Order: sequence, then structure tokens, then C-alpha cells
Amino acid sequence: MKTQVAIIGAGPSGLLLGQLLHKAGIDNVILERQTPDYVLSRIRAGVLEQGMVDLLRKADVSARMDAEGLVHTGFELAFNGRRAHIDLKTLTGGKTVMIYGQTEVTRDLMAARQACGAQTVYEAANVRPHDMKSDQPYLTYEKDGEVHRLDCDYIAGCDGYHGVARQSIPADSIKAFERVYPFGWLGILADTPPVNEELVYANHERGFALCSMRSQTRTRYYVQVAAEEKVEDWSDERFWNELKARLPDDLAQRLVTGPSIEKSIAPLRSFVVEPMQYGRLFLVGDAAHIVPPTGAKGLNLAASDVSTLFDILSKVYGEGRTDLLAKYSQVCLRRVWKAERFSWWMTSVLHKFPDTDDFSQRIQQTELDYYVGSEAGRKTIAENYVGLPYETIE
Ligand code: APR
Ligand code: PHB
Repeated sequence: MKTQVAIIGAGPSGLLLGQLLHKAGIDNVILERQTPDYVLSRIRAGVLEQGMVDLLRKADVSARMDAEGLVHTGFELAFNGRRAHIDLKTLTGGKTVMIYGQTEVTRDLMAARQACGAQTVYEAANVRPHDMKSDQPYLTYEKDGEVHRLDCDYIAGCDGYHGVARQSIPADSIKAFERVYPFGWLGILADTPPVNEELVYANHERGFALCSMRSQTRTRYYVQVAAEEKVEDWSDERFWNELKARLPDDLAQRLVTGPSIEKSIAPLRSFVVEPMQYGRLFLVGDAAHIVPPTGAKGLNLAASDVSTLFDILSKVYGEGRTDLLAKYSQVCLRRVWKAERFSWWMTSVLHKFPDTDDFSQRIQQTELDYYVGSEAGRKTIAENYVGLPYETIE
């Protein structure tokens, strides 16, 4: 088999890249290790930046998001018993975020791919990239007991943090930067009305809490837990009680509880590899970087990498601009590191660390009080939260 762009991974990165390339007349094939149902069973983030919303519209996969997504013009920070509002729209000259689950984005992208007839090989085992430094790279994979070969011009490694793409790059050709946090987020999904119209991020002496949602009738709530906690030890009742204890009184009183439909613990990590390319292999999304979920940046960073790679490949195929290929990593990393910084800052100021004593707790509260009390501070938070602009490729 032969294609122009071989994509490893049918998560949001691979599917969105595939869709944009297909629309631009660039042939691509996706190899995915799992089944479509498995990919759709993963519950992940739900806040889309303006840039990602615009990209989904450009890819022609925004109809359901535009109909069902919730546009949020602000969010709240709760600390020291009070609630402070960050008015995203006013502070950023009109930008907003869209509440629409990653699972739904993935579902829409899968439907679009099926409708346009582009090829996806699900349950492709043992995918391996070869000859990435040559101008004739290829992938091998196993399907139904046979080994197959996919020849291509370029390979997009959209296979997430545990994927094969990054691991195929020789260790002396990339450098990893990492911070593992000593806690995780215990999240539950429930069919209950949201406690607040906007998201609430809470700093509390018992630990961080987040009130989020997927729709007007479905909520997603999180509490910070120690890294070694087991989800089996958290009954719904224990979760709701802990969440209430960490919210300001007025919110705690009006919180509507109900049975969970999903409950899981996610570890928190910051991770970046440099560079994000090796020969004709390009790393995209979680394959190249991980952020802690506090800034809601993971999926959005994946989208900005996709946008950059798509812009470059369009110009390569449309205008012969192969000189742009060498720029992919540096363009992506400038934005990646800024999102890493914001996610790290939000994590640092909102969570309880093992060494958070009374003094550090007061410093966190004061840092939040300082930021929300100053227009410059609120603007800094807002412009990062709605997402920094995508770089133009010229
Ligand atoms: N071969 C083929 N496919 C693979 C392989 C492999 N060796 N390894 C992983 N995959 C597939 C996974 O099964 C998954 O479907 O690659 C896909 C990667 O998807 P994600 O992990 O969702 O990564 P990405 O598409 O970059 O999505 C952006 O940012 O912060 C996160 O929550 C956010 O998951 C989202 C991500
Ligand atoms: C979510 O809704 O799952 C969510 C929202 C905001 C975050 C992280 C996760 O910062």
C-alpha cells in the first residue's frame, strides 16, 4: 500500500490531521492499534480553545459542536472561601471557550472520516516506522496475522504518550523534559445539573477541586488525590463529600449529587520532547508533550500541532515548499512551552503539595488574590486560558 502521509494513531490528533489533509486533496492512511469503540470509551477533557474551534470548523466537522457545545465566556477561581470571576470575553477582546467533550470531537471526526471514505486500519498491531531519515520512509504493521507495508512521503506520529513513534527515535537524537506531580485527579461523570454555569477551579487546604460539565445535564467533577489512591476506595458518597468540603459554602449547598457513570484517577505530569521531528517523522499531540489537566491545554495543544503540520504539508504539496519541513518543531515548541508554563502555574497555585504548609497555603491564596485583583493579572490568566494565537506559516 502507498499513501502520501501515513498517520499513526486515530485519536483526536490523527483524525483531525487526516480530515484536514483529505479535504486538501492529500492522501493519507491512519493505522490505529485499538478498535473504534475502545478509542471512544476514553473520557478526557472538555474545554476547546477558540483556535481549536476554528480549526474544527475549517475541517468541516463542527456542525454538532456548534449545535450542542456550550460557549463559556468566563470561569471562576475559588480560594479562601471566596469566588473570583475571570471574564474571558471582556479580558481578551471577545475570545471564548467551547465546552464540548473530547469523546464527542473524536466521534464527529470518525464519522467524517467514514463518510469521506479515507482509509483507517483499526487493530493494526506492531506498527513500526522505518527509514525515517530517507526520502522513502515506510511503516510496517500486522493485521489478521499478516505483515503489511505502507509506503509514504511523511509519517505523522499521532499515537499519544505511550505510542511507538517517539520511541522509534534514537535516544541521542531527542531530549525529554519531565515533571511528575505527587498527586492525581479523581474524576467522576454524572447525569446531574452543573453546580454553576461556569467552570470553578478551587484551591482548598484539603486539596484542589474542579467543577466542570459536558452539557446542561451532565457534569464532570474532580478532586485532587494522592498518587497512590485507588479508585475502588472511593464510593460515590465519599467523592461527593470530599468535593463539598473543598467548595465555597454557597456552591457546596447547591451541589446536586447522583450516581457516577464513570470514575477514574488520572496522574498529573508535564512532559516535552525536543525536537518534535526526526527526518520525515513528525510527532503530534500527546506523542510529543503532556500537560497536567489544570489549564485544559492537552487537547488544544494537539490541535495547534495539527494546524502547524497541516499548514506545512499543504505548502509542501501545493507549492513545493519543502524548506518549511525543518521548521515544524521550532514553531510547535514555542507554543507548547508557553502552554506547559501556564499548566504548571495553574497546577502550582491550585494544588496542595506534600510540602504545602500553612505559609505556602497563604502564599498560594495571596498569589491568586493578587492576580484576580489586578486587571493585568486577570488578562494574563484569560489570554492563556482561551489559548495563545497559532503562528502563521510563511
Ligand atoms: N500503533 C497504532 N496506534 C497507536 C499506537 C501504536 N503503537 N500507540 C498508541 N496508538 C493510538 C492510541 O490507541 C490512541 O487511539 O494512538 C492514539 C493516540 O490518541 P491520544 O492518546 O488521544 O493522543 P492525541 O490524539 O495526541 O490526543 C490529544 O491530548 O491531553 C490529551 O486528552 C487529550 O487525549 C488527548 C490528547
Ligand atoms: C473537564 O471537563 O474534563 C476538564 C475541564 C477543565 C480542565 C480539565 C478537565 O482544566
